[in-house]
Amino acid sequence: MEAKEIYDGHADLWVRKAPILLSDYSARPRVLELCGDVKGLTVLDLGCGEGYVGRQVAKSGAHSVTGYDVSRAMIDGANQTAAAMGLEGLSYHVSDLRQAEFGDPQNPVDLVIAVFLFNYMDADSMSRILKRVRQVLKPEGRFIFTVPHPMLPWIKPAERPFYMRPEGGYFSSVDVPFPGRIWRRDGESVEVQAVHKTFTTYFRALGEAGFGQMPVVEELHITADHVALDPDFFGPLVDLPLHVAFSLSP
Ligand SMILES: C[S@@+](CC[C@H](N)C(=O)[O-])C[C@H]1O[C@@H](n2cnc3c(N)ncnc32)[C@H](O)[C@@H]1O
Repeated sequence: MEAKEIYDGHADLWVRKAPILLSDYSARPRVLELCGDVKGLTVLDLGCGEGYVGRQVAKSGAHSVTGYDVSRAMIDGANQTAAAMGLEGLSYHVSDLRQAEFGDPQNPVDLVIAVFLFNYMDADSMSRILKRVRQVLKPEGRFIFTVPHPMLPWIKPAERPFYMRPEGGYFSSVDVPFPGRIWRRDGESVEVQAVHKTFTTYFRALGEAGFGQMPVVEELHITADHVALDPDFFGPLVDLPLHVAFSLSP
């Protein structure tokens, strides 16, 4: 199923002002830490969804956050929440990043983030976006993205609070979309998708896009603090590799 259909269909379950989804605990706080001090920075948020991460970047003092998402319903949610919270410096565009350009190479930005975007497209589309990211980033800028951990589908059964169901083998399934689901702490769940890629896919695409430096790569997982907060919810995921964060410079 196309990402637009998935997200137009249940944007209401994504719109949130406080952490509630599993990945609001297991991934997004680390993304924000990796962003570091964002005061005065110009930021692009690729696959921004309803704006959860970009709003926090804006609240931390970024000069501007420009979000792009293929789902009109998610962008409507982003605009409504930004207006309700009286936040400034946020702007949003409905855009399919597999085809449309983003940013402006004549006016490069300080930071680009893509939080769980690349799991909705094949490796060629991701490669095109990575090349554009390099063109629209300042030489001293940074690029941070997260994806589901490539191994997760084979080691986590299709049960709450997070899974991706494999539809083939690890190496033979590159570019195959795997259906998945991620839960919220209130018991609701949302459909997600992982167009499978291996670690080799990511590193090769980054190299071909011209990223010359070794990225910082972190395998994100549940911590003791998560379990202390809500043992029933986080307990089933202890010691499993859930997501991967990449942080790099052009
Ligand atoms: C898992 S959600 C994450 C949203 C947001 N980054 C966050 O962390 O809350 C993935 C988002 O990527 C968007 N997306 C998927 N494919 C896209 C594409 N080709 N172009 C733009 N956005 C896309 C979806 O519409 C969805 O909002």
